[in-house]
Amino acid sequence: MYTGIQHLHSYMTYLVLLGVLVSFASALAGMFGNRVFTAGDRKRGLLGLIPAHLQGVIGVILYFVSPLGASNFSGEAMGDSTARLYLLEHPLTMVIALVLLTVGYSRAKRTAGTGKGFKSIAVFYGIALLLILLRIPWGAWPGNEA
Ligand code: HEM
Ligand code: HEM
Repeated sequence: MYTGIQHLHSYMTYLVLLGVLVSFASALAGMFGNRVFTAGDRKRGLLGLIPAHLQGVIGVILYFVSPLGASNFSGEAMGDSTARLYLLEHPLTMVIALVLLTVGYSRAKRTAGTGKGFKSIAVFYGIALLLILLRIPWGAWPGNEA
């Protein structure tokens, strides 16, 4: 159970990064191309949102089955930078990133027919992408099980 979910969370990260990057890049292209935000542009926003939402649900499950998650919570672990990354910094930063992606998409969805949706996705997805990149456990991903 633990190993399967850990691997799923690990591989899903590729989809999340790819999806958010494609959504972000197409929003930038729309923004600088001075276009109107269409239904197709909204769907390109979903390319980042859907894998990220799925990853969030998988992450929360992982937090409760991983030996690096909730079961490792202690004052002592807070003093260890690797333990604190998994216990606090990674989950908290990723939840903030997920909220930003959702707000960016949601705002864009409501501006169909104008050009504003692109800016909403570009700004919110851009900051979310930065946060994700800042708190991926790079020592363990991809693949060198540290
Ligand atoms: C955008 C969302 C997220 C991304 C891209 C992401 C990415 C990652 C990556 C790349 C790893 C390392 C996997 C490996 O060892 O190969 C990891 C581990 C982990 N993540 Fe996430 N994560 C996200 C959200 C979350 C959330 C919301 C939680 C919990 C609430 C969470 C909890 C964990 C835990 C506990 C581990 C350590 C698992 C273990 O090795 O035992 N993640 N995450
Ligand atoms: C399997 C997991 C999930 C999937 C596949 C998923 C997928 C989606 C999709 C496709 C949308 C866009 C819907 C639209 O166009 O209106 C969306 C929006 C949203 N989701 Fe998720 N989601 C998941 C989990 C969650 C969870 C766990 C939460 C909350 C804790 C959440 C909160 C939201 C919110 C607030 C929106 C914004 C609605 C809007 O304003 O358009 N999702 N999600």
